[in-house]
Amino acid sequence: MAARNIVGLDIGSKFIKAIQLTETSGQYKITEFGISEISPQMSAPDAVMELLARKKFKTKRVVSAVSGRFVFVRYINMPVMTDEELGNAAKYELGKYIPVEVDEVLHDSQKLEELAAQEGQEPEMRVLLVAAKRTFIDEHVAVLEAAGLLPSIVDVDSFALGNAYELTGKLNPQAIAQGKLVALVDVGASKTNINIMSDAISHFTREFYKGGDDLTDSISKRLSLEMREAEMLKRNPGGELEKVQECLAGVLDDICHDINISIDYFENQYDRKVEELFITGGASNTVGLQEALERTVQKPVGKWNPLQHVEQALTPETQQELQDNAAQAAIALGLASRVRKD
Ligand SMILES: Nc1ncnc2c1ncn2[C@@H]1O[C@H](COP(=O)(O)OP(=O)(O)OP(=O)(O)O)[C@@H](O)[C@H]1O
Ligand SMILES: [Mg+2]
Repeated sequence: MAARNIVGLDIGSKFIKAIQLTETSGQYKITEFGISEISPQMSAPDAVMELLARKKFKTKRVVSAVSGRFVFVRYINMPVMTDEELGNAAKYELGKYIPVEVDEVLHDSQKLEELAAQEGQEPEMRVLLVAAKRTFIDEHVAVLEAAGLLPSIVDVDSFALGNAYELTGKLNPQAIAQGKLVALVDVGASKTNINIMSDAISHFTREFYKGGDDLTDSISKRLSLEMREAEMLKRNPGGELEKVQECLAGVLDDICHDINISIDYFENQYDRKVEELFITGGASNTVGLQEALERTVQKPVGKWNPLQHVEQALTPETQQELQDNAAQAAIALGLASRVRKD
């Protein structure tokens, strides 16, 4: 059977990550990886170009993602209906749930699960509605096309996280908390994404705008260091660990508190308990984050590296690059995992 290649392209606020996944008869292999930093000298479109020039991707087809305040995600209950009926009904439902005109957005809907029937009531199903401002998607697609790429799916960061979890479950069922509710948490540079899942079903997502750069900023301000120096110190505190931890404590608490609020909200709203958290994203490496989160949410928190379950066919240098940046690559993997779904 012919191999299919796709590139999962995660355009973060600080780093571009790209994973090429090759699928042959249900077998998945990571066949290329690259990461490129966005800086004042290198805009996001430039960083995409730089990455494409430096690495050897076999395909121009990419799955990418958007996030932020122009993206609306809603989980609602609707009467049980077919996918076709849902497609028609979703547009009208959406109008009730988003703060902009339905005509201004591109939208999609997906049946998640049928709910246990309540006596005397019509059977219901849980539905995911997603919408993003058309102009926002157009700009995103224009960047990809200007780089010579062929955008095939535009996803949402939190869902990509869920797709990476789903792929892990498919490749290695023991590696996920089967049948349990877990919270996947990606702590990036400017934001944190949460997706509460059980197996392949997403129950709730949330995004808030705090991340690793706020931690660097705190070190920079408190110790009067340039951001670059503060970043280096944050990653390798060496003998200054105590001083660095003092600088980080307040922001770490804020991030942990916001994660906890989302989990609390979900648990109260749906009367279900999240059993475990899996953290990823560049800032999940921050010294003390895992412990601080465990203290705040009072649940086990594990570092999560979905890449370790996928076979790799990479040059030794790229393999090392991937290993060094594994925490930053989960979303790109989740995006690429849609190789079979388009
Ligand atoms: N070893 C490390 N220790 C602490 N922080 C780290 C480490 N490595 C990376 N980071 C932080 O991770 C962040 C970058 O992670 P990532 O690539 O996941 O973000 P991004 O996708 O660009 O951002 P966002 O998702 O918020 O748009 C930066 O803030 C960086 O300082
Ligand atoms: Mg990110």
